[in-house]
Amino acid sequence: MSVTSTATTNEQPDDRWTTVRVPLPCEEIRDAVTVFAHAHGFTADLAGPRTLWLRTEAGEPMADVRWKPAAPAEPFTIRQSPQSGAGTEVLIEPRPEGRLPAEALHRHLTDHHALPYTPAELNGIRTGMPLLNHYSTPAPPLTGWAMIFRDHYLKHSVGFVTAMERAGIPARWILTLDKGDRTLGRDRVHATFTARGYTSTLLDNAHVNNPAAHTPELAAVGETVDAFIDAAHRAGRRVLVVDDGGLLARGYGTHAARHRADAALELTVSGLKRIAAAPPLAIPVLNLARSQAKTRLGYREIADSCLRRLRTILPDRKLIGRPIVLLGYGVLGSRLAAQLRALGCRLTVVDTDLPTLIGAAEDGYTTCRTLTDALLATTPTVIIGTTGEQALTADDIPLLPDQVLLAPFATADFSHLTEHPRYSRTTVPGLGVRFTLPGPRTITLLGDGRSLNLYEADSIPTGGYDAYRAATLIAAHALTTTKTPPPPGVHTAWADTAIQAAGLWDAYYTLHCTNHPATAAAPTGGPVPGAVPGRRPGRAAVVGYGTTGRLHTRTPHQSPDHPDGDRP
Ligand SMILES: NC(=O)c1ccc[n+]([C@@H]2O[C@H](COP(=O)([O-])OP(=O)(O)OC[C@H]3O[C@@H](n4cnc5c(N)ncnc54)[C@H](O)[C@@H]3O)[C@@H](O)[C@H]2O)c1
Repeated sequence: MSVTSTATTNEQPDDRWTTVRVPLPCEEIRDAVTVFAHAHGFTADLAGPRTLWLRTEAGEPMADVRWKPAAPAEPFTIRQSPQSGAGTEVLIEPRPEGRLPAEALHRHLTDHHALPYTPAELNGIRTGMPLLNHYSTPAPPLTGWAMIFRDHYLKHSVGFVTAMERAGIPARWILTLDKGDRTLGRDRVHATFTARGYTSTLLDNAHVNNPAAHTPELAAVGETVDAFIDAAHRAGRRVLVVDDGGLLARGYGTHAARHRADAALELTVSGLKRIAAAPPLAIPVLNLARSQAKTRLGYREIADSCLRRLRTILPDRKLIGRPIVLLGYGVLGSRLAAQLRALGCRLTVVDTDLPTLIGAAEDGYTTCRTLTDALLATTPTVIIGTTGEQALTADDIPLLPDQVLLAPFATADFSHLTEHPRYSRTTVPGLGVRFTLPGPRTITLLGDGRSLNLYEADSIPTGGYDAYRAATLIAAHALTTTKTPPPPGVHTAWADTAIQAAGLWDAYYTLHCTNHPATAAAPTGGPVPGAVPGRRPGRAAVVGYGTTGRLHTRTPHQSPDHPDGDRP
């Protein structure tokens, strides 16, 4: 499988470097690459103590491979010390003609050598998601199901799939599909899934969005999915799809499907749009994308991850007090707007839906009907995209100010730039792609054009997505065990009712929002795991109430004009 193929047809060769961390000492990397080279008809020539040139037998350069000892990984949970071992970090940089061999080498190192999460790390993920853990008790009917899971390869995805395994779906009957974003630990997630006995491969969103340009890749993953569904049905199993916008759109839930899933959960808004555009469904699909749990709990965490990623990727940029244009004031945009305002940014909101735009205006933001209007009225430091549509158009290009930064949190927003090769571009490693426009002006698209909070980042913390992942597990459990499933089509209320009935809101409130000792029994069973007896969850004490102390006590919702509103 290719877990890191992020190349699109428009990328420049230097966009495509990848790194992989392997649990081998440095001395063994040369042998590992040489094994690959010989198996594929290449040569691997030593060009330095830790550099190999991968070439064809005719001497044509395909890729440069460099490596160094990996620094110990920082712990991703404060509950335990790092356990992941050191190993070696390998950088693979394709030459102009070497994209496919470089991808194959990455795949080879990942499949044969990438480091799965250690038991201690897996335990850290599990204890970091106490609600999910609580609801993942064994459910006998689930043992008769197979599951296809498609989402970003992130730690909370590991938490979810391993929870479904605990709940009853055998490892052999789990197929996981990576969406193809450059998430920070994607190779280790793939290695973990493989080590547990799942089948793990790639169904890249870029390929789903542009099928004509990616026929071979889609055919290959299609064969894997078809074979998995057929084998499950032959074994008397039903197939549940947990989809983050891509598989159902490829027809696996329709009447005409030759290999049809039996039930599904849709996790994302873009997936809902694709389902709406596809032929009618023949199976029930629970809409988790617009569930109360995602809207009320998940999106706040997503918005937080977007803002944190923006600030991390721009360590030297001042954002407080600066003008920012925000495209889209929907569920994600409106939450991000509130967080940017709490930071002190001066926001101009653009939304094409007039009632939504009026909402933004009456929430106190400066608003414009179009990006063009916004660019005529203000000179933003950053333009943020949260629309899921192509929001930057050719008309806007002449108005973009020099040095402006574009931050996409949905892939389509700035796709005008990435899809049109006429703009000259340079990759700035770790930051994004710099475009030179007439003027001359330079603008920078942060990340790789896909959602920035997923670019070389782990996005939402496991604890932040715990409730949403628990809600997804509850909905999956309800759908696969009910005697009266909903009819074919997309259902939102059905999922909300199941989640409410399972007591998730009570458990969440008890765990995070009360002052009571959090050992109170959760409605569905025993105490909510992860709670510390006698501790008051969700509280912090500020010692000292001078100027700094007062600032620390402010909540994002407090008016900066009334910092004394809530005393600790
Ligand atoms: N990065 C992430 O982790 C993440 C997480 C959740 C959702 N998303 C993506 O973010 C996007 C938005 O999600 P949402 O739930 O907020 O959807 P939403 O439908 O609630 O909001 C989208 C808003 O954009 C507006 N809009 C559409 N086209 C526009 C245009 N050309 N210019 C300005 N405004 C426009 C719509 O009117 C709407 O108000 C989706 O593509 C979704 O897949 C990303």
